[in-house]
Amino acid sequence: MTGQEFDRTARFITFEGGEGVGKSTQVKLLVERLNGEGVGTVRTREPGGTPRAEAIRSFILSGQPEGWGAGAEAVLFAAARLDHVHELVAPNLAAGKWVLSDRFHDSTRAYQGLNGGVDTKLIDALEILALDGHMPDLTIVLDMDPEKAFERVDQRALEDGVPRSADRFEREDLDWHRRLRDAFHDIVDNNKERCVMLSADKSEGELAEEIWSVVVSRFPEIERAATA
Ligand code: TYD
Repeated sequence: MTGQEFDRTARFITFEGGEGVGKSTQVKLLVERLNGEGVGTVRTREPGGTPRAEAIRSFILSGQPEGWGAGAEAVLFAAARLDHVHELVAPNLAAGKWVLSDRFHDSTRAYQGLNGGVDTKLIDALEILALDGHMPDLTIVLDMDPEKAFERVDQRALEDGVPRSADRFEREDLDWHRRLRDAFHDIVDNNKERCVMLSADKSEGELAEEIWSVVVSRFPEIERAATA
């Protein structure tokens, strides 16, 4: 790769899905692969990514604002996102780095909107505020039966010898997580240009290959650069 021939148009890729579908691992694997192709990347997550957003993350995941209702949670997630976009996402894209985020705005629509009952118009308005025009170029939604996903998470915790403590949303019952899965299906159906849904019920390696194929077919400049 010569570097000069590489089309440096930075891309913003987000990963979404229910609990325990393996997003974090896949974001990490994609970052490593992109770096191997000479693409500069920044890996981040939501809620979080900046000190102010991480502070909001701790507060939400502690469960303290739960009693305030899903509307208040949506506002808090949006406040965290606003800071994340302004302080991390936008500057890195402007600097030519590809930004990969473990969750982004679709999580608010799924968790607080479609599943939490917050009015779509409010979710739309918060999205305009928090994204400030930074819509992801590609969103990969990992899909899996929640019962299986939780079994997998428990199995991993057992293997690692680390007891798993459920956070705010993991404590919800199985029906809640099934509705969440449906919510992500709705989002993909309504955003076919941007979103790709992949089954996460397979090995990490197989899924990583599928994700790589999606990324290369969306952004063929990567392969052109690698073979140049
Ligand atoms: P995290 O430990 O990052 O979960 P995961 O590994 O599943 O991504 O915790 C983030 C939690 O916050 C997760 O349960 C999803 C939830 N969430 C929302 O409810 N709304 C949002 O807008 C975002 C970004 C996350």
